[in-house]
Amino acid sequence: MGLTKKQVTLRGKDILGLQHMTTQEMLLVLDTAREMKGIIGRDIKKVPTLRGKSIINLFFEPSTRTRTSFELAGKYLGADVVNITTSASSVVKGESLRDTLMTVEAMGVDIIVMRHEAEGAAQYASQAVSPVIINAGDGAHEHPSQGLLDLFSIRERKGDLASLKVAIIGDILHSRVARSNIWGLQKMGAEIHLAGPQTLMPRDIDKVGVFVHNKVEEALEGADVVNILRIQRERQQKGLFPSAREYARIFGINKERLALAKPDALVMHPGPMNRGLEIAPDIAYSDQSVIQEQVKNGLAVRMALLFLVLMGGKDFEATA
Ligand code: CP
Repeated sequence: MGLTKKQVTLRGKDILGLQHMTTQEMLLVLDTAREMKGIIGRDIKKVPTLRGKSIINLFFEPSTRTRTSFELAGKYLGADVVNITTSASSVVKGESLRDTLMTVEAMGVDIIVMRHEAEGAAQYASQAVSPVIINAGDGAHEHPSQGLLDLFSIRERKGDLASLKVAIIGDILHSRVARSNIWGLQKMGAEIHLAGPQTLMPRDIDKVGVFVHNKVEEALEGADVVNILRIQRERQQKGLFPSAREYARIFGINKERLALAKPDALVMHPGPMNRGLEIAPDIAYSDQSVIQEQVKNGLAVRMALLFLVLMGGKDFEATA
């Protein structure tokens, strides 16, 4: 069977998660983000590509990285960007999610970037209103732009993602980052190993084709990438692990444990970090850490997403 040209495009598509994004769509984002990263490195960063377009950042949960990088991404591409922080909006007067979305829609915006505490909120928004919806995190479900920036960061350092051993450590149960990483990495052919307390491991997660370990050391053994997740106290009931000290002792990633991974293993964390809990301070900013680079790459990936959902895609070689 020969190779044919196939048009891959994200134009007009909602970005709700990586579970249903194709490998070619993800590669399109990663390739476009590489070009966008070049713009971030310039002295004058602004380009007119999205001039006349408007983007609303609608955040029902706190954020530093995602909200700021979507804002900068839109501004660097020439769009008008408005932030709605719900604590300072009519949501506090009782306005519903649907009415908030419809209010924003009536203003004629092109993209709504939305973070919400409820799983499925982005999907709901995509059915409720016409602007493109980009999910900036919906409860413990998905965080697609984080998943894509993690793929980008690994690809940039390691090249091909196929057959890499990626260890994802910590609070898998409450982590939308873990879910988006699992779907994205699987499609790229990586081998995924999860470890964390049993109480923070989703039931039946082993059925999605990942390796699950009780001991963090087993997941770290020979890993190419160590992605450390934040303990999400705000989503947890009490008692899922004995104490912060015990968690750090048994599951925290420190120099000694990291030594089990390959010597050139990447240390990743989506942020914000609980330093001294899931990650020891000395490895958070070590030579192996790409945590700061992840933040920069997040800006490039979000520029790519905004560009692609409004402007289109490109030809890809695909098997017929
Ligand atoms: N990684 C991440 O989503 O960070 P923020 O909550 O700061 O956006």
